[in-house]
Amino acid sequence: MKISSFDHYKEVYKQSVEQPEEFWAGVADTFQWRKKWDKVLEWNFKEPRIEWFKGAKLNITENCLDRHLEEHGDKTAIIWEPNDPKDSHRVLTYRQLHDKVCQFANALKNNGAKKGDRICIYMPMVPELAIAVLACARIGAIHSVVFGGFSAQSIADRIQDAACNIVITADGGVRGNKEVPLKSIIDDALVQCKSVERVIVLTHSRTPISMIKGRDVWWEDEIRKVETQGNPDCPAEEMDAEDMLFILYTSGSTGKPKGVVHTCGGYMVYTGFTFDTAFQYQPEEVYFCTADIGWITGHSYIVYGPLSQGATTLMFEGIPTWPAPGRFWEIVEKYKVNIFYTAPTAIRSLMSFGLDVVKDKDLSSLNKLGSVGEPINEEAWHWFNDNIGHNKCPIVDTWWQTETGGFMISPVAGITPLKPSFAGLPLPGVQPILVDEKGEEVVGNDVSGNLCIKFPWPGMLRTTYGDHERCRTTYFATYDNMYFTGDGCLRDEDGYYRITGRVDDVLNVSGHRIGTAEVENAINMHSSVVESAVVGYPHDIKGQGVYAFVVCPNKHSDDELTRKDIIMTVARIIGAIAKPDKIQFVSGLPKTRSGKIMRRILRKVAEGDTGNLGDTSTLLDPAVVEEIKAGAL
Ligand code: WTA
Repeated sequence: MKISSFDHYKEVYKQSVEQPEEFWAGVADTFQWRKKWDKVLEWNFKEPRIEWFKGAKLNITENCLDRHLEEHGDKTAIIWEPNDPKDSHRVLTYRQLHDKVCQFANALKNNGAKKGDRICIYMPMVPELAIAVLACARIGAIHSVVFGGFSAQSIADRIQDAACNIVITADGGVRGNKEVPLKSIIDDALVQCKSVERVIVLTHSRTPISMIKGRDVWWEDEIRKVETQGNPDCPAEEMDAEDMLFILYTSGSTGKPKGVVHTCGGYMVYTGFTFDTAFQYQPEEVYFCTADIGWITGHSYIVYGPLSQGATTLMFEGIPTWPAPGRFWEIVEKYKVNIFYTAPTAIRSLMSFGLDVVKDKDLSSLNKLGSVGEPINEEAWHWFNDNIGHNKCPIVDTWWQTETGGFMISPVAGITPLKPSFAGLPLPGVQPILVDEKGEEVVGNDVSGNLCIKFPWPGMLRTTYGDHERCRTTYFATYDNMYFTGDGCLRDEDGYYRITGRVDDVLNVSGHRIGTAEVENAINMHSSVVESAVVGYPHDIKGQGVYAFVVCPNKHSDDELTRKDIIMTVARIIGAIAKPDKIQFVSGLPKTRSGKIMRRILRKVAEGDTGNLGDTSTLLDPAVVEEIKAGAL
């Protein structure tokens, strides 16, 4: 939605809150439906049951591809920049992307895929990843993309949870000068996954891999088969607005990651609307989001949101620091990028290389910047604004979550006045509320509390796969009749929102969500570990680092070796992204008499703030605190 002034925003916002159904029906009207809805919204947050555009029929890929063909078929849909700048880049027009999606959708069908099947995708950041995602959506199969940094065990857990029957992967991926042996990791995962009948393998890194007869097939062979069949088109499956589009696993404060479920109609409307509104996207603009499609940011704002709006979206396979730390800026210069959307952790990491790698790049094409993943600290905000945006590009600091599907609180580029480190005001249709511990609303301005949302929006999660009760208890049971985000937040005197970070046991490491319980479980798998507790601590680049207190009475005499063994164990169980940064061996954990670990104390020790640990009188063994303080890393 194009917003012409701050007053216009306020007007639209007011209407969206007073008449939400009319508002969202108007937004939904800008999309293409096979059949329009009977009812815009039915909901209760008790069960919860949320249905948007009830009775409507559509296919999201017709909105992302087909509907652009007549007028914009030759417009660039995807620009792909390879890991190695010496390799050639690729460009796919909307027509080419459409044709490739149809081809691969037919290949999926030839391999037995049907509407409703769950398909796991574990791929590098290449155009075929977007093609695979869209091909699943084309035939009504539910994709479950797993980020390339997760271990075989994590993949197996996700495949089993959703009972996937097909896996789409590549021989290997390359990031910087590191190779990721994707297929080999899949082979390890599949030892435990009986549901998988077919693995489709894209040739990419040309690493030697095993190919198992009857199970594994090459992507290229399957495409050739489709070509010989001579039927390039693949009519899109008609989906109900509330049919599942995808599952994406995310960490919470307890247990294993949950499969967040998004549905076809609401997610389409919400991601398209928020992309267009927050970035005020103009048809000729080149848009570059640096996220990986393995995370929600890539789903919503590399693939679905931009494509439904007919945008040109740039996919980058590599990392910001290879072959040199000016890589992002080189890409901006090379493709004359207009909108650049990244994460605070990337900004902080690039800041540390100084301005020399920025100065010689032509960044004049940039007109809008974005940030996502964690609260952006003021220093990083100003560096981004001064040196990348040259004080002429609005920075949209987009607050949202895997569960929200799309942006919730964010400036509208060029419209909302900006305040460094503030996500700002809610987008139209979003109704935030702050509550105190007791669940009482915190009213007025210049206040803080736990951030909740009191009215449904089309992009919200519908359930957690296979376990609706978990969805209810995690998000809808903490406070009555509200969606609880897990974030703390303050609202300043102007009503602007500033997210202060998680209030639960979820860490945000380099913008990645990691549950402390998950890391603890992984550490405890190490044969000599008795018990552990994991907390976050401030980390200059990552935002938060992982600090583990580990009880390990029978460890090697060599502490360093044991630490490495524990780190390897975590990498095996979860993946490299969850490796502890610091491991402190302790003889016991500070526990209350009822056996609860007092994390508050551990957090203070990890933060190096041991001056005042607060009340420790309820501890079973106060002496352990002295030992922990003395051994702090
Ligand atoms: C945090 C990523 C402050 C927040 C899209 C949230 C942010 C969690 C911001 C969701 C932001 C994300 N400002 N905090 N702009 N964006 N967060 O599910 O704690 O990977 O709850 O979704 O990241 O992480 P997730």
